[in-house]
Amino acid sequence: MGTWPGNRSKPDRSVSLEQYRLRARIYDTELAAFEPIRTAAVDKLDLQPGQWVLDVGCGTGLSFGLLEDGVGPRGRITGIDQCPEMLAQARERVKEHHWRNVELVEKPAASAVVKGRADAVLFHFTHDILRDAGGIGRIVAHLKPGARVAAAGLQWAPPWMLPTNAFVLLAAMHSVTSFEGLSSPWDLLAVHLDGLHVDTTMLGGVYVASGRVKH
Ligand SMILES: C[S@@+](CC[C@H](N)C(=O)[O-])C[C@H]1O[C@@H](n2cnc3c(N)ncnc32)[C@H](O)[C@@H]1O
Repeated sequence: MGTWPGNRSKPDRSVSLEQYRLRARIYDTELAAFEPIRTAAVDKLDLQPGQWVLDVGCGTGLSFGLLEDGVGPRGRITGIDQCPEMLAQARERVKEHHWRNVELVEKPAASAVVKGRADAVLFHFTHDILRDAGGIGRIVAHLKPGARVAAAGLQWAPPWMLPTNAFVLLAAMHSVTSFEGLSSPWDLLAVHLDGLHVDTTMLGGVYVASGRVKH
């Protein structure tokens, strides 16, 4: 089947682990162009001091600084990622910044166990995670009713936006293991949310979806 995501109808864990094992050291540089999206997504969480936020598919921890700004030193951040090499970078970042309120969980999102229910969750460029309905259900079970949810990432633009879709294709080839659901990547998450709101940016090639966990 090779590594071509177009050949797969659902994400493949071992392919993803290999993708990110190879990218871990250069990942932060590659993501630089998307930083305004990260800020927009974290803004949607409207984090308050003392809150607990999950960063699902946290990668190298690029969102931690913004999440720290929101929850403050009395708050808590739990970063979940299945890729040891990405999490090693995240661990370095936590050490460098002397953040004492960040916990890292090296597990597939669907089987990560955390105690209690969090106030908010971020899915930033985590298409593979968002295409597993069962896994999303298990993550939502770790959230309080009314918890804020934000998800951002690549999406197909309308078919006539050829340059945008060429860009999405190039970026997705290296970051997702299946193109399934790339037209509306948030739809499996949306069934758990009230007040779903979806913004599109980067000429339709990137979305930021947000809402609150249903009561
Ligand atoms: C494109 S990176 C995004 C990292 C980070 N959220 C960011 O915005 O910089 C996708 C991350 O999701 C992780 N990932 C993919 N599938 C996963 C799964 N099923 N469970 C946990 N992590 C997963 C990868 O290891 C990778 O670190």
